[in-house]
Amino acid sequence: MRITVAGTGYVGLVTGVCLAQAGHDVTCMDADVEKIRLLQSGRIPIYETQMEELLRENAARLFFTADAQTAYADADVIVIGVGTPENPDGSCDLQYVYAVADSIVRYARHELVVAVKSTVPIGTCRRLRSYINARRDADKQIRIASNPEFLSQGTAVQDTLHAARVIVGAEEPQTFETMREMYAPFGVPIVETDLCSAEMIKYASNNFLALKISYINEIANLCETFGADVADVAKGMGLDPRIGESFLRAGIGYGGSCFPKDTKALYWLAEHEGRELKTVRAAIEVNEAQKTVVLKKAHAYYRSLRGRTVAVLGLAFKPGTDDVRDAPSLKVIPQLLDEGAAVQAWDPAARQRFTAAVPRTVRFCDTPEQALDGAEICLILTEWDAVCALRPADFVRHMKTPLVIDGRNCLRPEAFRDTGVTYESIGRRPVRNLTEKEGFDHE
Ligand SMILES: NC(=O)c1ccc[n+]([C@@H]2O[C@H](COP(=O)([O-])OP(=O)(O)OC[C@H]3O[C@@H](n4cnc5c(N)ncnc54)[C@H](O)[C@@H]3O)[C@@H](O)[C@H]2O)c1
Repeated sequence: MRITVAGTGYVGLVTGVCLAQAGHDVTCMDADVEKIRLLQSGRIPIYETQMEELLRENAARLFFTADAQTAYADADVIVIGVGTPENPDGSCDLQYVYAVADSIVRYARHELVVAVKSTVPIGTCRRLRSYINARRDADKQIRIASNPEFLSQGTAVQDTLHAARVIVGAEEPQTFETMREMYAPFGVPIVETDLCSAEMIKYASNNFLALKISYINEIANLCETFGADVADVAKGMGLDPRIGESFLRAGIGYGGSCFPKDTKALYWLAEHEGRELKTVRAAIEVNEAQKTVVLKKAHAYYRSLRGRTVAVLGLAFKPGTDDVRDAPSLKVIPQLLDEGAAVQAWDPAARQRFTAAVPRTVRFCDTPEQALDGAEICLILTEWDAVCALRPADFVRHMKTPLVIDGRNCLRPEAFRDTGVTYESIGRRPVRNLTEKEGFDHE
């Protein structure tokens, strides 16, 4: 099949490369000329495991262009994977989706299916169908499928090649047929439904996962009040098949390009229809507060952070990606700087994107150990492998006063007993090795 993917971000590029791996001829189109140039030269604008090798292996079936006419003229399927960011009021901004629709109407030469992979508000595909039908030439059949994406950044390639399910919403048998043909080489289960249900499946899934994270984080905070251990609590809960163990890891909350915007978009959509999604609202509120819980913990030791050196390990919203969208680091680091702390940060992938989002004075380090050098507080914001591999002796050796606040529960509290390191995490009992007199001051 000849497939064009519009948008070469995390979703579009991974989709395009995996479709080529499945044997299709794929054109990846992006309005960003620089991105296309980079891709044409064999380089990848995002950090995602396996992408480089797959791109190399499938080079003969992958074509990159910034020219809409070249991209849309001869495709059998056009997959829309452009961004759908949030508007200031929390609603979803569809301008990029409609810009692609306009180009398709203008340049597509024959019958095709437009598969909307971008996360779009319920009802968008129906409106898009009317929009396109009102503008297309009478001899061009353009059919619409809703084909939401569920990949996770960091494991995006595997999530696509071995998806738990593919959702296809459509309203004509031929559209389902085309989509079945496109996904046949993947051999994954396909759930077929109408357009609105497919769109709803995406939002309902993401909102449920966000809710699960905020729920365990709120339970974690309560565990601290009662001296319970949230890791044990989550394990005990997760073994119940009705609950399941995934997304029950307590920490400083979710970020990234999906959960924050998709929770707000669904809340907005419901509100627009005169309904209030109380559970979703709670998930959003808990998550916002949770992002800065590490600062509250730091203040339990230091009344003021002015003049303190703080090591921040991890800037990306999760390991395996360079994405910092809605990452806790975007809230925590500016707050540290506002309080007069000096920040020494380390991240193996997200430094550039972080600097673009927060153009302030941060000392970036090449290794976690360098970031720890001379620091009085260490905040762990992303559980990169190199952070999980740190031992108590590393903190003792490098830090001025080894106070570690692990916002991702990626180290084991037991390891810190009798080591001289004071270790705090989320919802687990702290290990206090230094007394106030020895290590900390309350100014
Ligand atoms: N990132 C994820 O983990 C993820 C997972 C599931 C679903 N989604 C959804 O997928 C969509 C894309 O997300 P993303 O993270 O890949 O976004 P992204 O911001 O990384 O990439 C979007 C790309 O679209 C390009 N673009 C914008 N207008 C264009 C146009 N008119 N023609 C061609 N290209 C254009 C941009 O230049 C950019 O490269 C969003 O709706 C998102 O909610 C994302």
